Amino acid sequence: MRYLPFLICLAVYAADYPTETGRFSHEQLIGYAQEYGTPLYVYDGDRIKEKFHKFSKAFKDAYGNTKIYYALKANTNLSIVALLKKEGASAECISMGEIYLARKLGWKGEDILFTSSSKSPVEMEYAVNHDVVINLDSMGDLENLIATVEKLKKKARVSFRLNTDVDPKTHKHISTSHKTTKFGILFENDQIMEGYKRAYDHPLLEVWGIHSHIGSQIMDDSPFVRNVKLVTTAVKRLKQELGIELKFMDLGGGLGIPYRDGQEPLEPEVVANKMAKLVKQELKDLGYMPALWMEPGRYFVGDAGFLVARVNSVKDTPYKHFINVDTGFNHLVRPILYEAYHRVRVLGRKGEREKFDVAGNICETGDILAYDRMLPRPSVGDYVAFMDAGAYGFTMASEYNMFTLPAEIMVRGDKVDVIRKRPDIEDLFRNQILLKDLE
Ligand code: LLP
Repeated sequence: MRYLPFLICLAVYAADYPTETGRFSHEQLIGYAQEYGTPLYVYDGDRIKEKFHKFSKAFKDAYGNTKIYYALKANTNLSIVALLKKEGASAECISMGEIYLARKLGWKGEDILFTSSSKSPVEMEYAVNHDVVINLDSMGDLENLIATVEKLKKKARVSFRLNTDVDPKTHKHISTSHKTTKFGILFENDQIMEGYKRAYDHPLLEVWGIHSHIGSQIMDDSPFVRNVKLVTTAVKRLKQELGIELKFMDLGGGLGIPYRDGQEPLEPEVVANKMAKLVKQELKDLGYMPALWMEPGRYFVGDAGFLVARVNSVKDTPYKHFINVDTGFNHLVRPILYEAYHRVRVLGRKGEREKFDVAGNICETGDILAYDRMLPRPSVGDYVAFMDAGAYGFTMASEYNMFTLPAEIMVRGDKVDVIRKRPDIEDLFRNQILLKDLE
């Protein structure tokens, strides 16, 4: 027993350094870094396609009448969104910008769902004018919509977002359905029934659906199942008390992906089968079944993306060893914002490992992209890859500290395409105005 810690240490050192990086070899990623420069987001287009089809097949097989909306916020690169559109996704949008993007790529009307929790009159008008399905988050939202349709004398299709008070067992910043969170309308005081009644009675509103999204990066199927129970309760009450039949029931996104070695995935087939079974059971005597809509983001793009960075220096102190790279939380904010874990690979290096912090180049102490990782020692000029960076990576990036944004490339088979050019340093000043009297 006395020797156990020593034996564990030995085992860790003896174990092979995990060198796989999804579909890409280390050499491939090094090649992209050399050709396109760093920091560089690399996406595997084939993987995105595969994940989309796995997910949509799982829900189609389990339920039949389904529709999959891609939550654009996970990755809004035009070519990535276009790829998902080509494969058959519809678009879940959170802002006028995202609706604009969806329309730019050719989505129309009911293939666009607008789910902001705080819509301005301008955004509402834009949504009504473009016939998108509008998902209402509060009674104020409903008033805003009524004022808009009356002004434009134009019809709108609506759903309401229900807050089901389900604990999704994920990080608190990405848990959306607790009764104290800002999202959705609660059941408990019947406000949602009041909203439906008002919308149903309004000549310019068509009641289309009900919506709920309980959170993100969920790795357990039980919160999804519990949520179905609550949403179907609302569906039943709407029919029984108000005579309302819905076209769709949107059960949100949130399916997590494994970020750690050895972590078990949550398979969409498992979630789809459990959800579909319960929906069918709960609604079997209702006389109708709404379509089942889902709106994942991370599941499609998360593990298809890598952020590749260059090693600028390796610093050893009596307390810590640091690998200093040419990116930071400005380009991958998840570790500092959610204490998120991204696997790191020192590309092209194997062998003995030491404990390193992988540090970004932002002038903040918290800019550590990976703490206490057992990694091979890199040389200056080597590259590292942060894995599973395809979702909420580039989309949440900023130019903080005046670093330009990374370039992005997409790989499909043998084909490599730049899908976002590396900005020029002058781009950092776009739209700024230097006042003449200060020059
Ligand atoms: N639908 C709604 C209404 C949402 O708010 C979201 C995500 C989704 C769908 C898609 O969720 P997904 O399938 O991607 O989990 N930045 C955080 C995640 C924020 C999620 C925001 N809403 C992160 O990096 O973990």
